[in-house]
Amino acid sequence: MEKTLNYIESNKDRFLNELIEILSIPSVSNSEEFSKYTLQAADWVANQMKTIGMENVSLLDTGGYPIVYSDWMHAGADKPTVLIYGHYDVQPAEFNELWHHDPFKPEIRDGFIFGRGTADDKGQFFTHLKAVESLIKSEGGLPCNVKIIIEGEEESGNENLPTFIKENADKLKCDVVIVSDTEWFAKGLPTICYGLRGISSMELTVTGPNRDLHSGSFGGAVDNPIHALSRIISQFWDENGKLAIPGMYDKVPELTQQERDAFKKLPYNEENYMKDLGVEALHGEKGFTTLERTWGRPALDINGIFGGYTGEGGKTIIASKATAKISIRLVGKQNSDEVFEMMKSYIAKITPKSIKWELKYDHGGEPVVVDINDPAIKACETAMSKAFGKEVVYMREGGSIGIVSIFDEVLKAPIVLMGLGLPTDNIHSPNENFCLDNFFGGIKASAHFLHEICEVKK
Ligand code: BES
Ligand code: MN
Ligand code: MN
Repeated sequence: MEKTLNYIESNKDRFLNELIEILSIPSVSNSEEFSKYTLQAADWVANQMKTIGMENVSLLDTGGYPIVYSDWMHAGADKPTVLIYGHYDVQPAEFNELWHHDPFKPEIRDGFIFGRGTADDKGQFFTHLKAVESLIKSEGGLPCNVKIIIEGEEESGNENLPTFIKENADKLKCDVVIVSDTEWFAKGLPTICYGLRGISSMELTVTGPNRDLHSGSFGGAVDNPIHALSRIISQFWDENGKLAIPGMYDKVPELTQQERDAFKKLPYNEENYMKDLGVEALHGEKGFTTLERTWGRPALDINGIFGGYTGEGGKTIIASKATAKISIRLVGKQNSDEVFEMMKSYIAKITPKSIKWELKYDHGGEPVVVDINDPAIKACETAMSKAFGKEVVYMREGGSIGIVSIFDEVLKAPIVLMGLGLPTDNIHSPNENFCLDNFFGGIKASAHFLHEICEVKK
């Protein structure tokens, strides 16, 4: 590893410049407008893979944006095979007053690189590519067999990947999966994530009259879809902040005392949490702490709401339609399709005759909790503590990475969530950033991991 670590040290500047290249491609997967760039990012990743010495580099068709695949299988059949996963697509970002610079012209400030995709997920998955390069260039090869898939539809709901994984289970066969797309509990606290919430995402449209009406002529006599939608939404929770949708908690396991205790040991400070968010108080399900609420309990959020007149000045109407975009975070054995059906039944029950409604499914992914006692996780712990010189902590995550549960189900290999982000990364928000210590340390951790895994698998 000595040579590899030296190689990493002496190539830091180039690594960073290469990262800036991929960050400059606005690969926003949820919008047609950017499809040219999303495809360009796939090509860029493929070229990188060739340059670093990966083989069988190919763009695999999924029906949507391609998966960039490559492998290096010369370590021998007695060595484990590691599958590295990441995503080259990013969330949308507009250069407006909320960003201090163009989100697709990355800038480095005080040890952080700023720009869309820096932490989610380009900066993170790139650490593995650079680790592979460093090992091949300085040790003449990799200690274990490696397959890499970097996909382009994570941020738009992974419509095509599950089928792809199922149909290509043989091609992707491996002994362990490693994903860097989560975050540390705090700066300077290397963290392994062992749980992700699932998600069920949908859109509710309610329709009242067949056209917008004059609110003077009709107001008071016709149900206003915006009011109806508000009334529906207000019935999603009971007075204790618990979801009121029948069946919602049927497959939600109780958090164990052991897990609740482990959460309490993490250096969490509620005052700072609130201060950072600019709120005076928190709000959620009674009887649970913030970490329990976000990691171990379901949550429903209205992500956006629209309807009626929202332009300048007034317009006295009763609108014909109103819509809410809804996402529900899932835990335990909750299932995204089942939860959608529960929502449908509940909305049918609570919506008055004066309103027509339609609930459209958008996308979903299932929750996962991995076994932290798996030797692969221990190998990651060793690798991270070697790279960062610190002890590793464990946490769960409120966010979702849709494909991870499919890996679990289809590949039946342990999954290691070696996140490198920080809670201050602003992923999906303005001024997204990635800590350069985590970037360079992450390259070392990945290189260590590819060695350490040989000690525990096969
Ligand atoms: N990398 C995130 C998942 C994540 C979120 C990790 C928060 C750590 C903290 C991933 O790219 C993501 O944003 N997932 C989406 C999935 C959705 C678009 C289907 C999410 O959780 O909203
Ligand atoms: Mn991500
Ligand atoms: Mn994301």
